[in-house]
Amino acid sequence: MIKRTASFRGLLLRVASSSFPSKSGVRRGCASQASAVQRMIEPSPYSEDEYADVDWDNLGFGLRPTDYMYINKCEDAEFGQGQLSPFGNLKLSPSAGVLNYGQGLFEGTKGYRKENGHILLFRPEQNALRMKIGAERMCMQSPSIDQFVDALKQTTLANRRWVPPPGKGSLYLRPLLIGTGPVLGLAPASEYTFLIYASLLEGTAPLNLYVEEDFDRASRRGTGGVKTISNYAPVLKAQTRAKSRGYSDVLYLDSATKKNLEEVSSCNIFIAKGKAISTPATNGTILAGITRRSVIELACDHGYQVDERVIQVDELVDADEVFCTGTAVGVAPVGSITYQGKRMEYKTGSGTICEELNATLIGIQRGIIEDKKGWVIEID
Ligand SMILES: Cc1ncc(COP(=O)(O)O)c(C=O)c1O
Repeated sequence: MIKRTASFRGLLLRVASSSFPSKSGVRRGCASQASAVQRMIEPSPYSEDEYADVDWDNLGFGLRPTDYMYINKCEDAEFGQGQLSPFGNLKLSPSAGVLNYGQGLFEGTKGYRKENGHILLFRPEQNALRMKIGAERMCMQSPSIDQFVDALKQTTLANRRWVPPPGKGSLYLRPLLIGTGPVLGLAPASEYTFLIYASLLEGTAPLNLYVEEDFDRASRRGTGGVKTISNYAPVLKAQTRAKSRGYSDVLYLDSATKKNLEEVSSCNIFIAKGKAISTPATNGTILAGITRRSVIELACDHGYQVDERVIQVDELVDADEVFCTGTAVGVAPVGSITYQGKRMEYKTGSGTICEELNATLIGIQRGIIEDKKGWVIEID
């Protein structure tokens, strides 16, 4: 059953008077302002059974934007009052820091619908923390942890009809922090914008990876360990080439020796042999994934020996299983890896460690398995 939501949209439009907020007047703590916004959009005329007009079994590919986005500007070193507004384009100065010098960070997290219709977020404060650390590295102002989490809740609730029914997937949420102040000489921007939009996301098939030796993803003391937008355009060439050859993605080696595994373009990697699971230690060149950290903890709970260490590319030959972790892919099996012309194949499917850990993680994220770790927050 599809119900239209005009009254809710009208209510939000009154809250968000423009698609790109102008200077705010009186400054208060942003968390309390955001909560005030939250109160203004309540009560929602939604009932638990309202969904967007979507074929939930065939989400398709690519961006599938939803109704609302959240925007908050930081002028004078402080974030003001955030606003929800209809999803739409931004208006930017041609000399915005992000456009000219790539001052930008992004995050990715998901909203899940529980069997009883309530909506859950998974460890959102970890995304907030990672954005703060990244902002420090990139000389940017960032929202506080509370501001970030509050904004994420507001965006998810405003788009709640896009959160798939239980068992049909999740709503992907994309927080962005960008330098929007004008700069011409190389310098940090004078103004930053924090925004969040949401999209549906298709699932993934087993990955067939290609070990890249011609291009590096990150270098020592560079920015590989933070989620800056400037880490991603440089991997497109290797990824496009790998895809044109029939691989799903690229596995990178360390740039210094070309002997050790690092990570895939947008997820972390694990190898398993017997009851031993290993993943490359994060040393500044690898993004410390929230899924990676969660999977390490779950695997220890399940009795596996887990090591964060240097993993030589040669060890791929002996592994029983390889899997990737990330918000978008979850815990995803790797079917094969090709290195120097040699294709190595791995166990996938039922009875694998990957499947066991994925089922546990998904179970916690969707509220099916009891969350004993305080990872999940119910937001409605
Ligand atoms: C380079 C890279 N590594 C790893 C990950 C996985 O991180 P997370 O588990 O926090 O999504 C991502 C995705 O955000 C990524 O872009």
